[in-house]
Amino acid sequence: MIIEESFIRFRSLIRDNRSIRRFDPTVRVTPEMLRALIELTRYCASGRNLQPLRYRMVCTPEECAALFPHLLWAGYYKDWGGPSEEERPTAYLVQCLDTRLASDCLCDDGLHLEAITLGARTLGLGSCIIKAFNVAEAAKALHLPEHMKPRYVLALGAAAEQVNLTATDGTPDTDIRYYRTPDGIHNVPKRPLEELIID
Ligand SMILES: Cc1cc2nc3c(=O)[nH]c(=O)nc-3n(C[C@H](O)[C@H](O)[C@H](O)COP(=O)(O)O)c2cc1C
Repeated sequence: MIIEESFIRFRSLIRDNRSIRRFDPTVRVTPEMLRALIELTRYCASGRNLQPLRYRMVCTPEECAALFPHLLWAGYYKDWGGPSEEERPTAYLVQCLDTRLASDCLCDDGLHLEAITLGARTLGLGSCIIKAFNVAEAAKALHLPEHMKPRYVLALGAAAEQVNLTATDGTPDTDIRYYRTPDGIHNVPKRPLEELIID
């Protein structure tokens, strides 16, 4: 099989698109960058083509500080409370479902998140998808209207940590928890291809 160069580049982009949880606070993400990332979602597939997802851009230091306390980081790191003040994201996108249009969004949310995180990576940014957050408090902090139901928060900024992919041993009960080594590197175990293919 001949593997096209475009496929190799695409694979590298996906492979290098790791969740980042420590950021360089001196690099601000601009509203223009956020708009460009949101624009990518226009081209995503959408169940029933309803396109019911909306985005609240958060990029001022004040709004970032208002949102941060309502987010939970790295559930497997029991002794780490998330990025310190010197490591926090400089922007967020809060993905919301417009309940005037639909009561669910099927898998549109995940398709959008993949498009946005890959796009962010091509802009030189790191990102982290966050589902563990206090929805009511986040909505209050950002004065979201009642019909905008937050589904995910996407943290964004310039990466200030190194992330390595590791391979698991190919057994279903393998340990898939990410871990930080003493050098501060965040390691993410991924299952091998053969385990993903049903015989
Ligand atoms: C649906 C979903 C929800 C997630 N929620 C959180 C979260 O609440 N907090 C967090 O720190 N990371 C969260 N993550 C990031 C995962 O922990 C991360 O994707 C996983 O550890 C694998 O690392 P990788 O993204 O570098 O492959 C979430 C990822 C996904 C896809």
